[in-house]
Amino acid sequence: MERARPGAPGRPGDERGRRPWVVGVSGASGTPYAAAVLRGLLAAGESVDLVVSRAARLTLRDETGVSFRDGHWEADLAAWLTRGADGTPGAFAPELSRVRYWSAGDLAAGPSSGSYPARGMVIVPASTASVAGVALGLSKDLLQRAAAVTLKERRPLVVVVRETPLNGPTLRQLVALDEAGAVVLPASPAFYAGAGDIQGLVDFVAGRALDALGVEHALYRRWRGELGDAARSAGHS
Ligand SMILES: Cc1cc2nc3c(=O)[nH]c(=O)nc-3n(C[C@H](O)[C@H](O)[C@H](O)COP(=O)(O)O)c2cc1C
Repeated sequence: MERARPGAPGRPGDERGRRPWVVGVSGASGTPYAAAVLRGLLAAGESVDLVVSRAARLTLRDETGVSFRDGHWEADLAAWLTRGADGTPGAFAPELSRVRYWSAGDLAAGPSSGSYPARGMVIVPASTASVAGVALGLSKDLLQRAAAVTLKERRPLVVVVRETPLNGPTLRQLVALDEAGAVVLPASPAFYAGAGDIQGLVDFVAGRALDALGVEHALYRRWRGELGDAARSAGHS
């Protein structure tokens, strides 16, 4: 198991004052959303504690070709984050020194305790299984436990759910999460921001997630109160 130790190679050497966002990647389709959120947080100068569920390794392999391994997480994360949403390799050059990785099975990890100084958490993408687990307080792995901790500590929790259609139990669990204080943010790209490609649509969702966390970014063009902006930027008028 890969445990983070202060001062270990590739990890933040100085833990004092470090207030990371926990990013939980669960096994729903939509790993490009997670990549965009991670890049956005790092670009904003934020620290990140990353948890990748077992099922997310399958979606990651399916959607990017990257096999994510605990023992090689830095290289695997770099391979993943440099890829664009359309699979283009080398599209980005993220700086990873502010990332700390925790194995999903490590229930003794930092984010499993409320005394760990996390700012809050985003689950992106959020599977219906993780929605159910968090809504019911199952804490079956570190992702779910960290989310439960985030709620009990009244810290921001953003749940970027990705499934369609949604059934009654999932809808009720999403209401339960909303009532517990989470922001339920469906992975639902909008078309008013003038996205020109898949990455633009992905960045819209990631940008809305960062908005909910209160992190600054320039991932999408905000609404300016003028109808026709999207068509103009696409060259249709
Ligand atoms: C390729 C692939 C795509 C999947 N897409 C979704 C999805 O979009 N939404 C969802 O809720 N589950 C999806 N699943 C099913 C979840 O991976 C499964 O429910 C798993 O138990 C989730 O576990 P986790 O929440 O611990 O990551 C997908 C599974 C695979 C293999």
